[in-house]
Amino acid sequence: MPEPSVPWWKRTTVYQIYPRSFYDSNGDGIGDLQGIIEKLDYVKELGFETIWFSPFTMSPQADFGYDISDYLSIAPEYGTMEECERLIEEVHARDMRIVLDMVLNHTSDQHPWFQESRSSRDNPRRDWYIWRDGRGPRTPPNNWKAMIGGSGWHKDDATEQWYWATFLPFQPDLNYRNPDVKEAMFGIVRHWLKQGVDGFRLDIFNAIYKDASFQNNPFSRRPLPSEENPDGFFQKNENTINHPDTFAFAKELRQVVDEFDDPERFVVGEVFGSTEDVRRYCGDQDGLHMVFLFKSLQTPCTAKGYSALIQDYERHFPEPAIPTLVFGNHDRPRRSKTEAQARLQATFQLTARGVPFVYYGEEIGMQHRPIPLAQAKDPIATQYRWVPQWVANWITRKGILLNRDECRTPMQWDSSQNAGFSVETPWLPVHEDFPNRNVQQQEKGNSLLNCYKALLKLLKEHPVLQYGAMEWKPINKEHPKVLHFVRTSADRMQSIDVMLNFGKHAVPLAHASKTRILFSTLAPEQGTVDAPKQLAPFEGIVLYVSH
Ligand code: NOJ
Repeated sequence: MPEPSVPWWKRTTVYQIYPRSFYDSNGDGIGDLQGIIEKLDYVKELGFETIWFSPFTMSPQADFGYDISDYLSIAPEYGTMEECERLIEEVHARDMRIVLDMVLNHTSDQHPWFQESRSSRDNPRRDWYIWRDGRGPRTPPNNWKAMIGGSGWHKDDATEQWYWATFLPFQPDLNYRNPDVKEAMFGIVRHWLKQGVDGFRLDIFNAIYKDASFQNNPFSRRPLPSEENPDGFFQKNENTINHPDTFAFAKELRQVVDEFDDPERFVVGEVFGSTEDVRRYCGDQDGLHMVFLFKSLQTPCTAKGYSALIQDYERHFPEPAIPTLVFGNHDRPRRSKTEAQARLQATFQLTARGVPFVYYGEEIGMQHRPIPLAQAKDPIATQYRWVPQWVANWITRKGILLNRDECRTPMQWDSSQNAGFSVETPWLPVHEDFPNRNVQQQEKGNSLLNCYKALLKLLKEHPVLQYGAMEWKPINKEHPKVLHFVRTSADRMQSIDVMLNFGKHAVPLAHASKTRILFSTLAPEQGTVDAPKQLAPFEGIVLYVSH
């Protein structure tokens, strides 16, 4: 039985859907809400509890929904408000939870607020965005760089001032130093919570506040940002990212979310920085419930890599805090790995302590699909079209994706035309491997999909895997390729061991006779069997030891 004091969101499993690429129900080549409703049973049977949706509210789609022009209505290519309400109902009817993407930092430049704001210097909404005089007619107000490089200041000729955009030029940042902005955005948060959503993923949350006196950012030697360090483009972004006021804002937002406690809701922040730095957003259980930890995206799929990762996470997110376990999303390259590595990664992600966030298609091992920059739809890629393709590929291998189309290709449902995603030509090409890699084909037998299903079922049958303490065993010098950790209940009456062999040699297992194997990556469908004598090459197992 789950320990009653552990809130649901700390025990949950999250599946991310990028609506545009999931399932197209009306044959226009673009995924939609009705399509998602039709596929909800798939996610339910797979075994996830919570679904996070990338944005589907009104937007000119210049950044495919992350440029919102109306937070309270639905973009017509995705559906209608009735369909959205039905989606919320249908998710709940399946005992599942729904998390929306909340873009607080910026709006679209087509949002009526920005249209008003840019119309004149004395418009009442002028101060809803961040406007400054340049240092000269062609010189921006200061040296601040956008998150994606280049100056984040953009000159508006009509009023001869510059507005600030942390991300792309058509995504002007809201000015949270204006209390009316804060209230308006909290109003939107409350609106969706009243509609019944169970939480939010917070887009580039760590950019909300910038230095109020607009001091220049200092020089840095770093050419590119990384998952662990958001400094880059030869600049330390101490005045633009992770500002102390944003940490305080996390607590204000938490209070708004806590107004809705039946059921309890949660927020998870997209933030960048070292594990130690981003931990601060969670405060003392009074800030964000969780933050994404992206270090995992660059961690090698090895015993040593994962061992260092859990030690880092356990050090900075001890109970009652909870880490997140992330291996992909709509901005990152899909990691290339062997089938065995994919199974080991899934076992790690679903059994280590932390809330797993699984990006659509990971469960069938969907692959990164290279798409030339010249054909890209992604606005980052179109901005960087001048970059030679080999440089873009090199940067991608470093984990920074210039052309995010490559990880957003349509979900591969079956081997029919367009992978069963749409009867029309999809908005992005499907991966060529779809005839041999799709849901229908993996529904039977010893597949990666069945590996995910078996693991998610295990989590429900053995809740100690959801809430148990995490104890990792130091790597045994004789078997340096084996990762071993144990999940234990508070009364220590139950414990489950997870052993992952990342090496090509079998490893003998010595354990008590009362041990049973609950799951093996080699035979996910097999169910419980007696204790094996060895761990096969590249095998991961979950063991129950009765006391
Ligand atoms: C982060 C989102 O994940 C990304 O897709 C988006 O383009 C930017 N924030 C801007 O909203």
